[in-house]
Amino acid sequence: MKGVILAGGTGTRLFPFTKIINKHLLPVGHYPMIYWSIIKLGKSGIKDILIITNKDDLNDFKTVLGNGNHLGVNIVYQIQPHAGGISHGLSYARNYVKGETFVLLLGDNIFEDSLLPYIENFVNQNEEAKILLKTVDDPERYGIANVDKNTNQITSIVEKPQNPSSNLCVTGIYMYNSNVFDHIENLKASDRGELEITDINNIYISKKKLSYEVLKGWWIDAGTHDSLFRANQLVQKQFNQLGSEDNE
Ligand code: G1P
Repeated sequence: MKGVILAGGTGTRLFPFTKIINKHLLPVGHYPMIYWSIIKLGKSGIKDILIITNKDDLNDFKTVLGNGNHLGVNIVYQIQPHAGGISHGLSYARNYVKGETFVLLLGDNIFEDSLLPYIENFVNQNEEAKILLKTVDDPERYGIANVDKNTNQITSIVEKPQNPSSNLCVTGIYMYNSNVFDHIENLKASDRGELEITDINNIYISKKKLSYEVLKGWWIDAGTHDSLFRANQLVQKQFNQLGSEDNE
C-alpha cells in the first residue's frame, strides 16, 4: 500500500510565516510538521510515499526530506500547479497510485493514534473508502459527519457548517480505492472555488461504501496559529513522556 501526503496550499491562516516558508515545513516539536505524517505512515508499514506540493516550495521539501531514506521511507514528489482544493491536489496522485488502494494524509494533521489498526481493518474488510473522525469543540472549522444512530452509518458530511448538527469532525486521514480518481474527474468546484474532499466522501456515502472509525487519541489540524501552538505543546509533552524513540 502507498501513502499520499498533501502539502500544498497557501497557508494564509499562518501568515506572515507562510509568506516565506510552506506551512508543512514549520516546526512542530523538534521536526518540521510534515515529518509527523511521514513517521506515521512509515510506522504502519507504508514506505512508498508521494508528497504533493506547490512548485515554488518543491526544492525546500527536497532539501529537508530528500528521497526519505533517512526516515526509512521512499519519497517522490509531484507538483500541484495551483491551490484548487484537496481533491484537486489528490488528482495528481493518479499515476503514482496505479490502481491500488492507498492512504491519504493532510500534512497539517498531527495525531496520536497509530494508523496500523485502521489500515488493517480497511484492507482486511476490503473496503472502498474509509475516513477517521474525531470529536471537536469547533465544528464550524471542519467537515462534519452526521451519523445515523440506528444503522451506525454516516448519512452525510457537511463542509464547514454554520449550524453543525454534530461535533464529529472528518480528520485529514483518508483511505481510498483507485475509483476515487474517476470520482474526482466528475467533481465541480464548491462555492469557495475548490474541489472538495467532502464531495468525494459524499459520493462514497451515496454508494453506501464509506466506512469510518473514531480516533482514540488527540488530533490537531495545525493550520492556524492557535492550533499550531497546541500541536507543539502536545508533541513536546509526548516526547518528554516517552523519549524520542517511542515518540517517533
Ligand atoms: C480540510 C477538509 C475538512 C477537514 C479538515 C481536516 O479542511 O476540507 O473537511 O475536516 O481538512 O483537517 P481545510 O483544512 O481545507 O479547511
